[in-house]
Amino acid sequence: MHDQQPGPTEWNEGRHGVGPWEGTLPDDAHFDPELLANGDRRNVVDAYRYWTREAIVADIDTRRHSLHIAIENFENDANIGTVVRTANAFAVNTVHIVGRRRWNRRGAMVTDRYQHLEHHDTVTELMAWAREHEIAVVAIDNTPGSVPLETAQLPERCLLLFGQEGPGVTAEAQESAEMTCSIAQFGSTRSINAGVAAGIAMHTWIRQHADLSRAW
Ligand SMILES: C[S@@+](CC[C@H](N)C(=O)[O-])C[C@H]1O[C@@H](n2cnc3c(N)ncnc32)[C@H](O)[C@@H]1O
Repeated sequence: MHDQQPGPTEWNEGRHGVGPWEGTLPDDAHFDPELLANGDRRNVVDAYRYWTREAIVADIDTRRHSLHIAIENFENDANIGTVVRTANAFAVNTVHIVGRRRWNRRGAMVTDRYQHLEHHDTVTELMAWAREHEIAVVAIDNTPGSVPLETAQLPERCLLLFGQEGPGVTAEAQESAEMTCSIAQFGSTRSINAGVAAGIAMHTWIRQHADLSRAW
């Protein structure tokens, strides 16, 4: 349903993007005739200007990373949009939502349109999916026994699992995960925001496994 609603990117119309195509119209199937005619105000990198959504997703699909993200959503966590936006930026394979189907898309800034999303009712289902696809699950939380993310070697075929504000990653998920990694803290707060923690952990994987010569 959010497809019909103007998102934050569209609210900034006029400040971003490009106007109607100038000169001879390209007839390549990547291009969207409507965007060529009216301009492209979307928050997409220049290489994708005037491209259809389907063409953009197909192009990212050719070079998505072997990194998956999962976030528990048993209490409708407000951070999921941020997680999805960051996952899009890092060409994460799929974002898995565990628990409730509904989540607040505002923070995603429309990036969910270009990101594969999958839903699992329970942690058990997510873990079975990961086993079936031979992807190692690493929980991210600062619970006793966790391994410092700063020095951990993350698996290349990896699913990083995040918890919610309040409860954190469920005990069931941590027990089934290969390991739990914590992000070092030095101040007074018990924890950082889950969306921020997800960004740090995704970037840790990127630093270990991504081909940086292919970044924009
Ligand atoms: C706000 S935390 C809540 C749980 C936390 N264990 C606590 O005791 O308050 C929500 C989620 O953010 C992530 N997170 C926050 N701070 C973290 C840290 N220092 N290390 C690893 N993950 C963290 C985890 O995924 C966690 O489940």
